[in-house]
Amino acid sequence: CGIVAYIGKNDAYPILIKGLKRLEYRGYDSAGIALLDAGKVNLYKRQGKVSNLEEFVAGKNIAGHAGIGHTRWATHGPPNDVNAHPHFSNNEKIALIHNGIIENYNSLKEELIVRGYHFKSQTDTEVLVHLIDDIQKKENVDLAQAVRIALQNVIGAYAIVVISSDNPTQLIAARKSSPLVVGIGKENDFYLASDATPIIEYTNQVVYLEDEEVAVVDLVTGLNITNLRNQPKTPYVQELEMQLEALEKGGYEHFMLKEIHEQPRSIKDCFRGRLNASEGWVSLGGVKDYEQKMINAQRIIMVACGTSWHACLVGEYLFEDLARINVEVEYASEFRYRNPIINENDIVIAVSQSGETADTLAALELAKSKGATILGICNVVGSSISRITDAGSYTHAGPEIGVASTKAFTAQVTVLTLMALSLAHKKGTLSETKFRTMLSELEIIPEKVQRILERNSEIEEIAKIYKDATNALYLGRGSSFPVALEGALKLKEISYIHAEGYPAAEMKHGPIALIDEEMPVFVIATKGTSYEKVVSNIQEVKARKGKIIAIVTEGDTDVKAMADHVIEIPDTDEHLVPILATIPFQLLSYHIAVMRDCNVDQPRNLAKSVTVE
Ligand code: G6P
Repeated sequence: CGIVAYIGKNDAYPILIKGLKRLEYRGYDSAGIALLDAGKVNLYKRQGKVSNLEEFVAGKNIAGHAGIGHTRWATHGPPNDVNAHPHFSNNEKIALIHNGIIENYNSLKEELIVRGYHFKSQTDTEVLVHLIDDIQKKENVDLAQAVRIALQNVIGAYAIVVISSDNPTQLIAARKSSPLVVGIGKENDFYLASDATPIIEYTNQVVYLEDEEVAVVDLVTGLNITNLRNQPKTPYVQELEMQLEALEKGGYEHFMLKEIHEQPRSIKDCFRGRLNASEGWVSLGGVKDYEQKMINAQRIIMVACGTSWHACLVGEYLFEDLARINVEVEYASEFRYRNPIINENDIVIAVSQSGETADTLAALELAKSKGATILGICNVVGSSISRITDAGSYTHAGPEIGVASTKAFTAQVTVLTLMALSLAHKKGTLSETKFRTMLSELEIIPEKVQRILERNSEIEEIAKIYKDATNALYLGRGSSFPVALEGALKLKEISYIHAEGYPAAEMKHGPIALIDEEMPVFVIATKGTSYEKVVSNIQEVKARKGKIIAIVTEGDTDVKAMADHVIEIPDTDEHLVPILATIPFQLLSYHIAVMRDCNVDQPRNLAKSVTVE
């Protein structure tokens, strides 16, 4: 879910709506706002996108210099008008927005019902607003203190903002395991948001709240942060470096298309200052001090979810093959609940675009509690994962807005490649010549990505042919297997076509039964160690009349003779193929989704940043 709030001299409504649109990637099944005007809180909420909310409020009173806004990704209770946030106290004085999950909401709800509170929604959130109201009355404390006490009684994760008609100069916010940023405006005004994107337009001075901190922003007394026991904390004001242009479509029809096309630059940004092929060095400053530990470690565990998990699978292949370091890749959600065996010599690396994914964060916390060294590879600067890790490397891909991850994935793979190369060099598992050749190859990868992007219209033609498929299979071997998984995920996510990624050789153990003349099979068949084997797999598909769309190395003739379509990618070192082979799949999925009239940037049911488990 996404949170935005404002208090100051300006009209809150336009700031909230604009902010919600920037945050819509975090969830978009319903949206709502509460505005404080003339001693009264006006609350409007609607199922669906922020644009629905805008239509709904047309002609209504949207005045006010203080307000809170929310865009939801449903957990408890279906996405409808009633379950949308904000939620009101029964006397309609206090309104609250929440991101996270209140685990003990049922028992709290029962108690509050006994105490006479009426619940309108099926959400876990509504308990918070009644609880705060109840405590304020019962204990005769001010609103901020009521929030602190309420949160002491809560089990779960939250980022909240509270507004009350009795406290017209204040907004109260708090966080635990869900991000919240305070923006300090230039005109004695304040912004609160789930991430910096709604704030950047107005100020670059921000404070990231820590877990169990409560922030009171007050037009009279300014920003005041305490913990839940009301002990003061000193705000650490940071300067944001994000550029506003990065949050806009810049002439592209969709963010996803823009982000796909940004990859030559984002990959370059990722190795800027970290790689010099002519001088023959690679260095990731952030994790440098941990390299020897990584080399000595019996194993490295990589944890992630979704696309980032696919990047880890490529990383595993690179670390093992180049640096001969044992790597295990885990879904963060599985790892954390399996009572994993972790000891002090283990290194756990979390890979996460947002740096906020609840399961990944929790997996790291678990590893840390067992004494492991925890490292992060994140895209969002200042994110929760980047802050709790011992060290890490940013991917520097810039803000990724499209829900389906593209440039963040190639940047993650690039960082993992740099890490593997640096470790291999230090450990001596790679000859100097091979090391230098790989550095030179990596350095020119952005140009090769650009050449693939120039095949966009060719890929669009292929998309036209397969846009009505109901199933698709993606095959690859070695480090191209995760690329197959990622290709299938991209298609599923944005076009709703059922797709599976498989190691090419595993096809004969099941998926081959699905192959008929209707079934497109996307294969990564670039030259390299398993080329011949993949060619055999292609023959097996053709023998069953499946359609083959193959990604091949420029100049290939063998696969071309067999496949229904080929997409050529430039030749490169085998270890770098995942970066290149991913690009045509991104474009294919994009075009297919557009042709099927799907919402490319905001596919149904998904959210970019999953801050609930
Ligand atoms: C969500 C997104 C995916 C992403 C995954 C992990 O499911 O829709 O695109 O790969 O979360 O997110 P992270 O921010 O940790 O990389």
